Amino acid sequence: MLYAFELSGEHDSIPVIEAYACMEIAGLKFREYAILDQCLIVDIEGNINEIETCLQYVAERVAMSHHIIRVAGMCDTSAENILKLADDIDYSKYLNTEQTFVVRARKIKNYSDIKRELIEGHVGGRIFRKGFRANLKRPEVKFRLILGEKCVFGPIVASVNRSVYEKRLPHKKPFFYPGVLMPRVARALVNISKVKKDEVLLDPFCGTAGILVEGALVGARVIGIEVRSMIASGALTNLDYFGGYYNIINGDACRVPFKDECIDAIVTDPPYGRSAAIKAESLHHLYFNSFREMYRLLRKGKFAVVVSEIDISFFAKEVGFEIIDEYSQRVHRSLTRRIILLYKKK
Ligand SMILES: C[S@@+](CC[C@H](N)C(=O)[O-])C[C@H]1O[C@@H](n2cnc3c(N)ncnc32)[C@H](O)[C@@H]1O
Repeated sequence: MLYAFELSGEHDSIPVIEAYACMEIAGLKFREYAILDQCLIVDIEGNINEIETCLQYVAERVAMSHHIIRVAGMCDTSAENILKLADDIDYSKYLNTEQTFVVRARKIKNYSDIKRELIEGHVGGRIFRKGFRANLKRPEVKFRLILGEKCVFGPIVASVNRSVYEKRLPHKKPFFYPGVLMPRVARALVNISKVKKDEVLLDPFCGTAGILVEGALVGARVIGIEVRSMIASGALTNLDYFGGYYNIINGDACRVPFKDECIDAIVTDPPYGRSAAIKAESLHHLYFNSFREMYRLLRKGKFAVVVSEIDISFFAKEVGFEIIDEYSQRVHRSLTRRIILLYKKK
């Protein structure tokens, strides 16, 4: 069964990697069908009800998608072919005659010059003429037309509530200190680490706990280390506010008082030596010693996600990590973030 993720377009590859990680966490068996600009199509195996229950969970976890759509059909983006596609679909698979529907389109970049409202109306008209009732305000089934490199059409099976991330913007949290990742980025990184509910997630440079709040909200048991006591107590204030299962240690990421291989996932944003303070002999010492600790603490077969402004692959490889992937994200003119996904071999 084909499903499409309508991606947020915040980054070229992170939304795709995040969607894959969340489907894996949810236990779905899938394979990639197509990657289009801001739209990922996957073929998922199994019973439709079970798949869509899992996709509800995926939509609650992912940050960098808008909707998940059961694909009813695909075609090029000419109006003629879209209307032909709309005519050929058997809508009884997606709604019954008692249910109401709406058609909403999203245009991605400038792949198509079709007017959004016009195509929504024409496709809606086709469905109406097959005996189904439209309701623009309170529809029971929402059909989505993604107009990008291709037209992807089908009912929405789950939507991401992106407004919750706005409520957790750094300056809206009880404790704020500059240099924080935006909550949607922090959530995507937590997801990429593949941490599951009840597993232990560590951020050894936790700052105000931006990453840990997102980890706790997906049900991980989160632990943070922060060298500055004022910030460590602020991190605790933030975690108290959002809830979950958590602990903060006011200590040094280079000397963590835990036994070997007791951590299921690491997601962290170490200081770069520019704005955030470094408590170490040098940046080199800080990175080398903290990476050695991360490697020691992480269980075998698990992932670490590290954000940095500098190239940290040397330190990661030196302590034993396998580099799975590296992404760069332009934040503004003078800041490009590097995100590195690391694996500790079994
Ligand atoms: C870039 S900030 C992390 C921001 C964090 N993601 C947040 O949500 O606020 C890096 C943090 O590492 C802390 N830090 C610096 N040296 C450290 C060390 N040796 N051990 C633990 N924390 C350290 C800094 O005080 C700073 O709060």
